[in-house]
Amino acid sequence: MSQQAAEPPSPAASFHDGVNRGVAPVTYGEGNRPPRGDYADARSDYTCEQHWERHTEAEHALYRQLYERQVAQLDGLACEAFIAAVRGLDAAQQIPRFDAVNERLLAATGWRIEAVPGLIPEEAFFRLLSERRFPVTRWLRRLDEIDYVVEPDVFHDFFGHVPLLFNPVFADYMQAYGAGGLKASRLQACEQLARLYWYTVEFGLIREAGGLRAYGAGLLSSAGELRHSVNAQGPQRVGFDLERMMRTRYRIDSYQPTYFVIDSFAQLFDATAQDFTPIYQRVAQQPELAADEAAPGDRPA
Ligand code: PHE
Ligand code: FE
Repeated sequence: MSQQAAEPPSPAASFHDGVNRGVAPVTYGEGNRPPRGDYADARSDYTCEQHWERHTEAEHALYRQLYERQVAQLDGLACEAFIAAVRGLDAAQQIPRFDAVNERLLAATGWRIEAVPGLIPEEAFFRLLSERRFPVTRWLRRLDEIDYVVEPDVFHDFFGHVPLLFNPVFADYMQAYGAGGLKASRLQACEQLARLYWYTVEFGLIREAGGLRAYGAGLLSSAGELRHSVNAQGPQRVGFDLERMMRTRYRIDSYQPTYFVIDSFAQLFDATAQDFTPIYQRVAQQPELAADEAAPGDRPA
């Protein structure tokens, strides 16, 4: 997949029976393999202690290596808000202590990060977002996974997602997405909504004064796809179109063949404020699009 683990949850398999009141953690996109991580001490909402003190020096060193490699390539590729937030984070030296980050994050936008053991069920995920609580996986990938990890780890979740939670408009979008997810669960529209997440929160591009930039976490935490998404000739880049996104399948095992481009976070927030109920119905009537398909009406971006 894209160098980073996939995010939008797809239906759960039934592992971890008896743990967490029998609720099965979701794997994203993948088959029926149990999620990685230790769920024994998870609370009923799937949050847990970070246990920062359990991280080894080798893990801090690997995190530092991942961090340095990404920070070195942000200029000209990452959106302004992300770069500004990373500068203010002071998270270069070691795996961050979530409590310390929360002091700043709460003051900035009222969000907090919560440690989780790993992937969590989509309902729990949506609920946390709707409460302005962002779940961050507590484990770090192994050294042999430095370029590619199948599930989201602390580097993807923290470095990819947390900086933009300092942006007030993006922060509001994430909360609205969580509330929208709880609603989509009732409407059986989670797959359509997951595509919106995929093509914005994970793999979104934004048009800024300086040019095209990445704001999606899957891009920002990826060693290779960040540059590819902004500069490569191959992928199609399509102007933001809500229904088009909801119809488009995505790849979890390669770089995305299609990226969607927003003009601003305000555009994203405003375009998703409407009631999705009739949109889900309309989208369900239309054929799906393959990840690499072009659609009539696509605005080149
Ligand atoms: N407005 C959407 C609805 O009514 C909720 C939503 C907001 C979903 C923002 C995603 C992002 O379902
Ligand atoms: Fe993610």
